[in-house]
Order: sequence, then C-alpha cells, then structure tokens
Amino acid sequence: MTRVTEIRYVGYGVENFDAERAFYVNDWGLVEVAAEDGLAWFKTHGHDEHHAVRLHESDANHVEVIAFAADTRADVDALHEKVVAAGCRIVHAPRALEAPGGGYGFRFFSPDGLPFEISAEVARSTKRAMARWEGMPVKISHIVVHSPDHQALVRFFTDVLGFRISDWLGDFMCFLRCNEAHHRVAILPGPPCLNHVAYDMLTVDDMMRGVHRLKQRGTDIRWGPGRHTAGNNTFSYFTTPGGFAVEYTSELEEVDFETHQHKVHIPGPQVMDQWGTGVGGPQTMPHPAPDARLFQASEI
Ligand SMILES: [Fe+2]
Repeated sequence: MTRVTEIRYVGYGVENFDAERAFYVNDWGLVEVAAEDGLAWFKTHGHDEHHAVRLHESDANHVEVIAFAADTRADVDALHEKVVAAGCRIVHAPRALEAPGGGYGFRFFSPDGLPFEISAEVARSTKRAMARWEGMPVKISHIVVHSPDHQALVRFFTDVLGFRISDWLGDFMCFLRCNEAHHRVAILPGPPCLNHVAYDMLTVDDMMRGVHRLKQRGTDIRWGPGRHTAGNNTFSYFTTPGGFAVEYTSELEEVDFETHQHKVHIPGPQVMDQWGTGVGGPQTMPHPAPDARLFQASEI
C-alpha cells in the first residue's frame, strides 16, 4: 500500500523569530542549514534529513506545515489522489518544492485544518556519528496532535496515509507507526493543534545531558524525566520561547511494521510514567488551544 514512511520536518510561524532561532541553535541543539530574511531551516546533527525545523517570522505562533516523506514520486501522486478522495482541502497539488532541499510534494489540510506536506526526492543532507553524553538530538522521533474527533483522525491516518495502530492508551490516545518506530504520530482528543514534537537522543544519558544543558541555559523541564509505557520511550518535555512543547526522548521501541499487534494500555500514573520520579505531568504542559491559522495556508 502506498503510504507515508517518515516524518521530515515541522514548520512554525513565530512572533519572536530571533528568540526561537537562538533557542533551537544554542539550547536545543540543532544546526542552521539555510536562512533568508525572517526564515530559517535547521537540521539535527545525527540524521541526513535535509531539515527538521523551519521557522518563519509571523504575527502569531502557529504551525505552518508538518511534513512527511513518501518513498517515491509515484507514492506522492497516489497519496495526493487519496487525500483528494478523502475530501481534504488541497493547498497545492504535487509539484517541485522550492524550499532548500527541493523535492516533489503536495500540501493539504487535515480534516481538522492543520497543514501537512507529503514529499519525495528531497535532497539528503549530511550526518555525523554521535557519541554517548553529547546530549544532542539525533532526529525527529514523533509528533503528537489533538483532534476534536480523534477517532476520525486515527481513521484518516490509517486509511488514507497508510499508518498502522501500534497501541492505544485507554480510548483517548492512539499511537501510530509508518515504519519500524513504535510511533511517529500520536493523536489525542482536544482542539485542533500540535501537542508536541519529540527528538530522539542517542541514549537515556544523552537525554539527561540535554535536560542539564537546557536547565543551565534557563529552560526548566515541564514534565519528566520519565518513561512512557506505550513505546517504552523515555521523555523530558520543555517549551520553546514561542510556547511550543518539545521533547527529548530515547529508546523508543522498534516493532515490525507489518505484524505488530496493538495493545490497549489502561491509563494510570505509572502507565504515563513508569519511573514516577519526575516533575510535573500532563497538567504542567501547555494547555491545548486551537491552532491560530487553521485552514490558512502559509505563503511559503
Ligand atoms: Fe512524545
């Protein structure tokens, strides 16, 4: 089946471009790969995806694009047809992409109005071997979004985009895979918005070193450190200067894409966090609110 196979990057519109840019380069641990006036692209050290984050100066903090990969140009065309058939609003049909790294892709709004891109043939960048204790992000691990009809959005991700269900937490949080990673996307009930973007760290020690660096630089942990049950990954959550939640994670479970059978985890304090030693909880994370630009296409 034609499907999405990876996450590429998340594009944000931000009111304070300079603060957000400084956070990602100096604190979070990304590398700026291209920039023009009010626009910049950033990659991770340990992966050759062309960029993992795009920042764009804006009059509101909002999500401009969540970009996924498909394997081939033919897959992009086929996914476009499926997204059209599903009744989604298309921003642009498949075409050559103008962003650094190029590629061939299309943009659309999810049924809830969040902007997505699916592309192939984007240029690969460089990567370097990472060593334990560096505490720098290797790659994007996963994104989590809210939906007013989360069951319908799960069906959209499975039936249209080709994701598979890896686990449920109760009946309210669904973990979805598009490759061997236990989840690349998770969906929660709530107003249509991005909940957080997580970055893989090489080891749990790297996550802790990242926590330490952020603390020294004035960004305190919002929730964690801990270890989730679904996916068995460690977690530490923070917020960027623009108020977006970001996560350092490690040791996310790998599963067989074709054969993995999902479980339903019964919600409870030590299911959300198997360690139970960290600070905060879901209640100390930013309160979800509808994205400020639903169904409004970014000009870039
Ligand atoms: Fe996460």
